[in-house]
Amino acid sequence: MTFLEFLLILLVLYYVGYIVLWILLDCNVSLWYKSRFGVSLSTMRGQVVWITGASSGIGRALAVSLARHGVRLVLSARRVKQLEDVQAECLEAARGLLAQNDVLILPMDMLQLENHQSHLYTVLNHFDRLDVLVNNAGRSQRANWTEIEIQVDRDLFELDVFSVIHLSRIVVRYFLEQNGGRGHIAATSSIAGFSPVPFSATYCAAKHALNAYLSALKVEQRKLDVTIFAPGPIATDFLLEAFTGTDGRKLGGSTANQKRLTAKRCGWLFAVALANKMDVTWCGLFPVNALAYCARNPTLTKIIGHFMTEKRLNNIREGKL
Ligand SMILES: NC(=O)c1ccc[n+]([C@@H]2O[C@H](COP(=O)([O-])OP(=O)(O)OC[C@H]3O[C@@H](n4cnc5c(N)ncnc54)[C@H](OP(=O)(O)O)[C@@H]3O)[C@@H](O)[C@H]2O)c1
Ligand SMILES: *[C@@H]1O[C@H](CO)[C@@H](O)[C@H](O)[C@H]1NC(C)=O
Repeated sequence: MTFLEFLLILLVLYYVGYIVLWILLDCNVSLWYKSRFGVSLSTMRGQVVWITGASSGIGRALAVSLARHGVRLVLSARRVKQLEDVQAECLEAARGLLAQNDVLILPMDMLQLENHQSHLYTVLNHFDRLDVLVNNAGRSQRANWTEIEIQVDRDLFELDVFSVIHLSRIVVRYFLEQNGGRGHIAATSSIAGFSPVPFSATYCAAKHALNAYLSALKVEQRKLDVTIFAPGPIATDFLLEAFTGTDGRKLGGSTANQKRLTAKRCGWLFAVALANKMDVTWCGLFPVNALAYCARNPTLTKIIGHFMTEKRLNNIREGKL
């Protein structure tokens, strides 16, 4: 065997190994690597992390994962009763690392932009610092492309994009003006934010826009950490509240009995991504994880596109396998 042949075999083995990992893992390879060999969550102990959409699903699971390691939290959403339950769950998970005062409940409607600044003051008055903002609040959508009313496009962008960017700007200004330019902005995007899926046109566009806004922030403010966390299908209640194509109508759907990654696992992976200050990461069960890799490569996207009818793609995203 010549040296060149040897190199070629190594290269083939490398790619085959990589593809096997795409199939076996429930997140991208570098996130999995960090979850094993990266910085531990306990390095975030004492930091203050503000999570929007903390009353359920992914935000709730992320809060509990961080609390377990003594990370101080601001929990925001509209449903106060649910936030109180999450606070109790966080304190229990922290097993003495956190006191009641370390987990602040901050009720807020993301759509009331005029209150964002005073919410930040509340956080700073309470903790005297803020290290990470996690923009997680958001709503999905199920609708036929042709039937979406323009008001739905506007409302969905208002919540999933503009409210997020408005709050982030306020927090970034604080990072720049009062925190020496250091700070961490994160958002729950979606794999639909890299690669379109059927029957969610506005949602796909909104998550693409969110990714673009945050990537643009990162190229402008190099000292800031920016994390785009993109889940595939996760078992949460988010289909209840999902937008449809009709103004004011909610889907009222359920994810029961669908093949989806648990919110608990998703929240923990998100926490790993934050501790390791990762830039773009994702998670999802097979074949979502493998497809996310393909979606990020134009050639693979084209090849896969030939095999993917809209029905098949929809079944994958709805966990009907
Ligand atoms: N589940 C999935 O398959 C999946 C996949 C990819 C991405 N995501 C993203 O993950 C994020 C969290 O969703 P989830 O799956 O965990 O669903 P979820 O359980 O429905 O959580 C949504 C959260 O957003 C909050 N929220 C909604 N509207 C709000 C508003 N106007 N003001 C303040 N908070 C608001 C809700 O709290 P209140 O109702 O109490 O205000 C709730 O805490 C979303 O951005 C979603 O797009 C989910
Ligand atoms: C899209 O339209 C088809 C045909 O009218 C209908 O069966 C389907 O339920 C619609 N899907 C959504 C998400 O509204």
